[in-house]
Amino acid sequence: MRSVALFGAIAALLALPEAFAVKSHDFKTCSQSGFCRRGRALAARAQEAQSSWKSPYSVDPTSISVSPENATAKAAVKSSLYPEIKFGLELRIHDDGVVRVLMDEVDGLRKRYDEAASWALVSEPTLSKGIRWAVGKKELRATFGKTNDIEIVLQYEPLLVRLRRGGEDQIVLNGRGLLHMEHFRTQTLKETVEEVASDENAEGQEVLQTENVRAWFEGDSEDDYWEEKFSSWTDSKPKGPESLSLDITFPNHGTVYGIPQHATNLSLPSTTGDSPSYSDPFRLYNADVFEYLASSPMSLYGSIPVMHAHSADSTVGIFNAVGSETWIDISYPSKKSTQTHWISESGIMDVFLLPGPTPEDIFAQYARLTGTTALPPHWSLGYHQCRWNYVSSDDVRTVQRRFDEEDMPVDVFWLDIEYAQDHKYFIWDHKTFPDPVEMTNDVAATGRKMVVIVDPHLKRTSDYPIYQEASDLDVLVKPKSGEGEYEGWCWSGSSSWIDHFNPASWDWWVSKFKTSQIDTGFSWTESTEDVHIWNDMNEPSIFNGPEITMPKDTIHYGGWEHRDVHNINGMLFHNNTAQAVRLRSEIPKRPFVLTRSFYAGSQRISAMWTGDNLGTWDHMAVGIKMVLANGIAGMAFAGSDVGGFFGNPEPEMLVRWYQVGIFSPFFRAHAHIDTKRREPFLLDEPYESIIRDLLRLRYTMLPIWYTAFRENSISGMPIVRPHYVMFPQDTAGFDIDDQFFIGSSGILVKPVTEKEKTEATVYLAEDQVYYDYFNQYAYRGASKGKYITVTAELHQIPVFIRGGSILPTRERPRRSSPLMKLDPFTLRVALSKTGTARGELYLDDGITYSHQQGELVWREFVAEKPKKKTVRISSRDLASQNPGKAVDGVVLAEYDPKNAFAKEIEEVRVEKIVVLGLNSKPSAVKLESGADLKWEFVPGVAASEKKEGTASVLTIKDPKVLITTDWAILIS
Ligand SMILES: *[C@@H]1O[C@H](CO)[C@@H](O)[C@H](O)[C@H]1NC(C)=O
Ligand SMILES: *[C@@H]1O[C@H](CO)[C@@H](O)[C@H](O)[C@H]1NC(C)=O
Ligand SMILES: *[C@@H]1O[C@H](CO)[C@@H](O)[C@H](O)[C@H]1NC(C)=O
Repeated sequence: MRSVALFGAIAALLALPEAFAVKSHDFKTCSQSGFCRRGRALAARAQEAQSSWKSPYSVDPTSISVSPENATAKAAVKSSLYPEIKFGLELRIHDDGVVRVLMDEVDGLRKRYDEAASWALVSEPTLSKGIRWAVGKKELRATFGKTNDIEIVLQYEPLLVRLRRGGEDQIVLNGRGLLHMEHFRTQTLKETVEEVASDENAEGQEVLQTENVRAWFEGDSEDDYWEEKFSSWTDSKPKGPESLSLDITFPNHGTVYGIPQHATNLSLPSTTGDSPSYSDPFRLYNADVFEYLASSPMSLYGSIPVMHAHSADSTVGIFNAVGSETWIDISYPSKKSTQTHWISESGIMDVFLLPGPTPEDIFAQYARLTGTTALPPHWSLGYHQCRWNYVSSDDVRTVQRRFDEEDMPVDVFWLDIEYAQDHKYFIWDHKTFPDPVEMTNDVAATGRKMVVIVDPHLKRTSDYPIYQEASDLDVLVKPKSGEGEYEGWCWSGSSSWIDHFNPASWDWWVSKFKTSQIDTGFSWTESTEDVHIWNDMNEPSIFNGPEITMPKDTIHYGGWEHRDVHNINGMLFHNNTAQAVRLRSEIPKRPFVLTRSFYAGSQRISAMWTGDNLGTWDHMAVGIKMVLANGIAGMAFAGSDVGGFFGNPEPEMLVRWYQVGIFSPFFRAHAHIDTKRREPFLLDEPYESIIRDLLRLRYTMLPIWYTAFRENSISGMPIVRPHYVMFPQDTAGFDIDDQFFIGSSGILVKPVTEKEKTEATVYLAEDQVYYDYFNQYAYRGASKGKYITVTAELHQIPVFIRGGSILPTRERPRRSSPLMKLDPFTLRVALSKTGTARGELYLDDGITYSHQQGELVWREFVAEKPKKKTVRISSRDLASQNPGKAVDGVVLAEYDPKNAFAKEIEEVRVEKIVVLGLNSKPSAVKLESGADLKWEFVPGVAASEKKEGTASVLTIKDPKVLITTDWAILIS
């Protein structure tokens, strides 16, 4: 959460929607940021010069070194503006066709930050073998890819990199000549113009007056090179200008997605060109933005510099591994092409070109670089109840009791900052929480967990052991002098911050979470293994810092300035926290850590949420788009606060927000300290009952969610999937971001996010039957796409099953998800128009890493038509067919269907099978092994018909089959 302490007057008004207003003046616009202004001015000069504009950067052909068996090519680069400055370029071709383009200054006065990728990457990428480079007079090129259809071309003069497929440019770097790597210089050194001007090149042509050339390219003033002021702050820039400007063009792709986190449409609006949607570029600079806008290119809490460029023909992508503040301009010169301009404050050029050509390929390529979401603990997919603050242990117990009395499932109770004495995290305030271990045990008695906040600001007081030990260890961030401890203001008053880039902090931080006494120093004996962690404020948020964060000239490990690592910083904190939670028990358990700040790679470690949203309809709607955008950029375990953090949503809004929440990967309700209590059991009827049903619906669908998480953990395919991912060729769906699918399950959801709506329109992209999840009404899509209108009264949420899907659910209401472990399953078989269907189910213990040893169950359900009048529904083991794909992180050599986990659930039955869309009443339903089964048939529309109407429903009660064994049922 964000400070209201400094904004007391605003705080008093918080309950009033009128008071909702981002404090825009707390944050820079591009024109207030020196390097962004320089970058945009460069682009404006290029625009004006049009065809006479020429990039000053060129490759020296004599410097090129390649080798046939080597996937790398290197070249020297120079800029005609600064002939004495040397740059080096390197191209690396990975074995999956990804191309990495690196450029750095060589033998410069200083070193540019070059470690961003090493934090983001899951491991060093494997290079391709057998690449043949053709070194030509004007360009260097190599052809590669499974069908040898991808080409990388390096043009020498001016420097230009193209990724081509099928003879067409897909991604072009420096095509517009906006590449500019500001070299290091000393402030006093003035170039002697005469000296350079009298120089002549080999052909004897006169070199233009260097100063004029420089002014033409760079502008004629040293704009904020050495110091920058914003509001009352001065950013000293001891290293001088070092920004990197780079244009990336997608000449054959007219839609771009990604670069979270912004509160905006999934299909990114333009920021330049003719009538742009926003006047400022999209900004990536992790920031705690108080009461952020529901539509804006402004920075938010996390940054993932990943972009997909999409067309009906293909998808390509880029990952720009930069850790410093970055601004991105986007324009669409035509419906079919996209121009982007990336302006970063510091760091080397390190861009990964992802060749696609499908969205699925992009997810796989990006996942190979930065990893996937580790399978989270199963309970973390349940409902999380949070508030700033549950004020005492008795408060927690009462809230838990009320959930139980009202038969509402919940898995996790959360504690915000007020549990900690004087906001000294780990240290319980014993006045209100006298018995934290007993309280946690009371919560854990029904299989539930607690999540407790640990923020990164450490109160600077010697009676706070965490601060004192960090200070003694000398692992705190240093002020710009490089000596002592940086001090800033946060919840805990005067505070310091651990420098998690310092390896000396790692083992120490891990030891703080041990639940038994360690040999030296503090350990968290007042916690148990049922306590998991929430890392908030890790942008970091600093109330008296520039733009509410850390001054850019503070110093991290290795002497790097905060400006170099700002966007990565929050990830190291939640990573080290997650390691600590994992390692505190003897048998490592999957940690749950929620983070507000994140970077590329954060998905491997933590869940995220969209921060301090407002209780408004706009924020409810944009939260869905933000979760989708995070998902396609890898950060799949995402959600936004149900109800909105600020404000007092009316019951109608709260109900709609729960409808959004139950269909988010991460599902948590949270509220600001100044809001009225709004736990679902406090609502009047009918709202309370509607929300009870929604909570239960989430729990019945946990098997579907967990199966989608497994798939994401292997392939990187998002857990909630936007339209273009499902139907990449359907241009009509490229901008759709208010309805989505859950994994590969076939569930389509269109939440209602507008007041007093009683209807919803839903887009069906294909000629297929879609069944209403609740009343089995069969709708028909069309091959060119079709909108249908459905009723959506307050208690109704438009949810559909795509024909051809089989859904496993557990339909018995329980208090928490661990209590469902031995519950039977229901299978919904939603026949496609051709009478077939398929689905998957993944299960494991949900707690430990035993799944990595093969203790898991992974099943496939299939409905097929072996004969004209027969439908055969069967279950088979998938894990032994695909042991390598059963679980991420390890390759199972083989799979034992009788593993320990499978044994634990071997008695678990399928209690009901529901078949939607059969052609006619069957004459017999029996096990393939012989026995007749009990069934009921309600006639209705068949899947194969063209009609709409309530589908026929066959219900097989107690089909006498188990979830872990192979079986088949014949319907004839
Ligand atoms: C391949 O490239 C690496 C790094 O540039 C270099 O060290 C190595 O000698 C090259 N190998 C061959 C066979 O040329
Ligand atoms: C977002 O998309 C909606 C619907 O297509 C559109 O009306 C709106 O203008 C877009 N927003 C921006 C900022 O372009
Ligand atoms: C996370 O922690 C692990 C274990 O200490 C370390 O190997 C890894 O580099 C860290 N990654 C990040 C992104 O901090």
